[in-house]
Amino acid sequence: MKLKGRVAVVTGGTRGLGLRIAEGFVAEGAYVVAAARGEEGAREALEPLGERAVFHRVDVRDPESVRTLTDAVAEAYGGIDILVANAGVSRSGPAVGLAGADWADVVDTNLNGLFHCVRAAVPHLERSRAGGRIIAMSSALGSRPTPGASSYCATKAAVEMFSKVIALELAPRGITVNCLSPGFIDEGMGKLLKRNEAVWSKYAPKISLGRMGSGAEVADAAVYLAADSGSYVNGHVLEINGGLGW
Ligand SMILES: NC(=O)c1ccc[n+]([C@@H]2O[C@H](COP(=O)([O-])OP(=O)(O)OC[C@H]3O[C@@H](n4cnc5c(N)ncnc54)[C@H](OP(=O)(O)O)[C@@H]3O)[C@@H](O)[C@H]2O)c1
Repeated sequence: MKLKGRVAVVTGGTRGLGLRIAEGFVAEGAYVVAAARGEEGAREALEPLGERAVFHRVDVRDPESVRTLTDAVAEAYGGIDILVANAGVSRSGPAVGLAGADWADVVDTNLNGLFHCVRAAVPHLERSRAGGRIIAMSSALGSRPTPGASSYCATKAAVEMFSKVIALELAPRGITVNCLSPGFIDEGMGKLLKRNEAVWSKYAPKISLGRMGSGAEVADAAVYLAADSGSYVNGHVLEINGGLGW
């Protein structure tokens, strides 16, 4: 039980990678608040995890909504030990043709959402007796220019740099900050991507292990960073991509 009794907020914890991370944390003894906009299907998705996983509504684009979430969790559980800022969206298409609203939604969710979550969670994380942990969700595309994914690539690159900066700022407050950078994972957006033959046939040969990763493999990395095993890891981007050569 690597996370026994610890309290984790996982944004986007209702499906895809966030749900797998919530499962991994509960299996290691944590209490998990899985937060997202959509309630429909979320409670059913969390039910198999038992009573240590609950749903809370949040829109990470809205600082008030995020503050309501973190305050409610701290009040209900007596604090917050771990923030996994996982909620993310993607919009595809060449940059010059991308609708302004789509660009704004990706920036608001992937980058501004992280900013709001960090600011709301830090006052609680710094009181964690286990040592506060922030895990931000980047992507292999955060360091690989990919045509048709300008907003996604740009925001994930920014997530990594923002995380490295706050890792230095928050260390004196007893909080570590690291990023997960998954490659092609057979879960969530990755699962959809695999169904697009034109895209998948282009990228599959670049994975040295010759297969997609699983949600459980990403969850294992999140547990590593969240638990005592990650206590001396700070400002790191942990790639989980099967050796992606491009
Ligand atoms: N799957 C992959 O292969 C892969 C690879 C690299 C990186 N990633 C990253 O991993 C993270 C999760 O991706 P995924 O594939 O699991 O995606 P997903 O299946 O689409 O799940 C996204 C989650 O984020 C939530 N969300 C979206 N916008 C939100 C908002 N404004 N406020 C609160 N919650 C919001 C969604 O719930 P609601 O829509 O109900 O709000 C959902 O729970 C993302 O940051 C993504 O960039 C994924």
